[in-house]
Amino acid sequence: MKKSLHTIDFEQRRKQLLTKIKKGVAVFPAAPEHIRNNDVHHEYRQDSNFYYLSGFEEANSILLFDSNSKTHFQMFVQPKDATKELWEGKIIGPEGAKKDFGAEAAFPSNDPKFFDEAFIKALLEAEVLYYRVGHNEDWDRRIFTLMKKAIRQLGRTGRAFWPIHDPNEILGEMRLIKTRAEAEQLEQAANITAEAHVSAMKIAKPGMFEYEIEAALYHAFRGQGAGRLGYGSIVAGGSNACVLHYVANNKKLEDKDLLLIDAGAEFEYYTADITRCFPVNGRFTPEQKEIYSAVLKAQKSCVKMARPGKSMKDLHNHAIEILVEELKRLKILKGTTTNLIKHKAYIPYYPHGTGHWLGMDVHDTGRYFSESYDTPRKLEPGMVITIEPGLYFAANAKGPHKYQGIGIRIEDDVLITASGNKVLTTGAPKEIEEIESLCNSN
Ligand code: GLY
Ligand code: MN
Ligand code: MN
Repeated sequence: MKKSLHTIDFEQRRKQLLTKIKKGVAVFPAAPEHIRNNDVHHEYRQDSNFYYLSGFEEANSILLFDSNSKTHFQMFVQPKDATKELWEGKIIGPEGAKKDFGAEAAFPSNDPKFFDEAFIKALLEAEVLYYRVGHNEDWDRRIFTLMKKAIRQLGRTGRAFWPIHDPNEILGEMRLIKTRAEAEQLEQAANITAEAHVSAMKIAKPGMFEYEIEAALYHAFRGQGAGRLGYGSIVAGGSNACVLHYVANNKKLEDKDLLLIDAGAEFEYYTADITRCFPVNGRFTPEQKEIYSAVLKAQKSCVKMARPGKSMKDLHNHAIEILVEELKRLKILKGTTTNLIKHKAYIPYYPHGTGHWLGMDVHDTGRYFSESYDTPRKLEPGMVITIEPGLYFAANAKGPHKYQGIGIRIEDDVLITASGNKVLTTGAPKEIEEIESLCNSN
């Protein structure tokens, strides 16, 4: 196979990992399959770390890295099987893993002896095992059993068990700083997602159901080549917007409802994460406008602030400060800003954080703190974050009656650059006039 940019990326990632696991052996099992019922499985998606290192999408596979041996990278994969391939499609097999996926050696995974023997052999030469404990009990048992076997093979040495390090932190650090190619893939996911949000603004009308909009989003995602959703779409009309993880998406949209959509397409294993809110009848009410403008002010100011040297905590504190000022201006909170923040008076209206890392996973991996976990980590070029403040006034909850039932969140995906940032989600408008004009354009 001709080496595409992609193949080279995976190879570079493996090289980088090997430099970080000196005298170590690392094991990455593929994501397990989950049975939905009888012989039907839930949709399969490869584990993000596994895919990041290999580009290999098949279940029942294992990656084995050994920094001590000449064979640094082995794969254990499903063997070719004509009957299974007839039902389920092409299986790459060990030969394919070597030829197209960079494995220096590859063996069938259906016979456990191949992995077990290779693992023990590698472990006997290693000082550290890199394996993610606590993620999969079957795998934990298998690894511990093999470690016991290996130590028995050593005879009476008195040596301790190999220390086990979680490779997720190493991978988290690697995945956190995006290469140019990764940033481009995220931008592609963001463009696809933005276009879907725009089409939702155009088609939504009072009387439609939330699931019709959910279906339109999915149509737009898949129609533009996205592999799947990055997470379950939240399509929340009216006060459903105040339920932060609303996924029922089955309510009828009423005339004066706002519709909050939090949805993201996954494109080649990188996901976008966009939230927009718009009036289903095409015009914000004065109360909706007031709350929307308050959130927009905080959101835009945080975007402006996001640059190397600032932390996610700085952005969150900044969002809180502006939202508290706005809540005071709207006479929802009374008191000094310092006191209101100190006593967390904003929590009933703003109960969540202002953003997170974004990448292969919507809540992407990577440390939020310094290496010693004692200070918030500063943003660096190549990181991609979301910025997503909101205000929520659940029906019959705290706050003035006129705002009850309004829930607003505005969420963009932002690439941190050397000079500041680049918003990847500008394709989804967030200014009131632009939104109203789109809503009335169909
Ligand atoms: N869609 C999940 C989030 O915004 O964090
Ligand atoms: Mn988010
Ligand atoms: Mn979101």
